[in-house]
Amino acid sequence: MSAIRILGISGSLRRGSHNTALLRAAALSLPSGAELEVYDGLRDLPAYDADLDVEPADEAVAHLREAIADADGVIVATPEFNGSIPGALKNALDWASRPFPDNAFKGKPVAVVGASTGLFGAVWAQAEVRKVLGIIGADGLDGEIPVGQAHMAFDDDGHLVEPDLRDALAELVGVLAARAGAAADPQAV
Ligand SMILES: Cc1cc2nc3c(=O)[nH]c(=O)nc-3n(C[C@H](O)[C@H](O)[C@H](O)COP(=O)(O)O)c2cc1C
Repeated sequence: MSAIRILGISGSLRRGSHNTALLRAAALSLPSGAELEVYDGLRDLPAYDADLDVEPADEAVAHLREAIADADGVIVATPEFNGSIPGALKNALDWASRPFPDNAFKGKPVAVVGASTGLFGAVWAQAEVRKVLGIIGADGLDGEIPVGQAHMAFDDDGHLVEPDLRDALAELVGVLAARAGAAADPQAV
């Protein structure tokens, strides 16, 4: 049986991103038989423009849509910028939402997690991402992983330090892998 493929999308572009670190922590928590690849094309996407939303699609847009379509499940790690979703991530979700309703996210299991250097762990941004995913037609999982004070949240091995958060992340990615596996192979359920 082939591995369950999970695509990780970090809403942060910067090299030292705590949200990309959170995706790596999620990868460490995945059950056997599942693998996570971090998407690295967010900065290459043009700002959404309906005049550019034509076939054949812009290369970066096509790459994003293919990466989502090829994955069995997706995990989005979002920072919080001014109480909401970073523009680069919202832009990617907007591109991925087209053509609507038969887009790459349709029915796709998606978990949302988030990290911020503040105390609250990007909970508003996570709620906003879940709202957008619902409108897009993804199979958004309930629950959030609020990693606050993210600059102190990871140990040297890349795991979350806080045991409750670490357990919650393992549980969430376990549910995501199960849903992704079922979506990839409905006969197996
Ligand atoms: C423009 C901007 C706005 C921000 N707004 C918030 C905010 O509303 N709430 C919060 O908890 N952190 C906020 N932060 C801090 C980010 O959570 C912090 O920079 C975080 O580490 C970014 O994620 P990254 O490490 O993955 O790049 C803001 C940062 C920037 C640059």
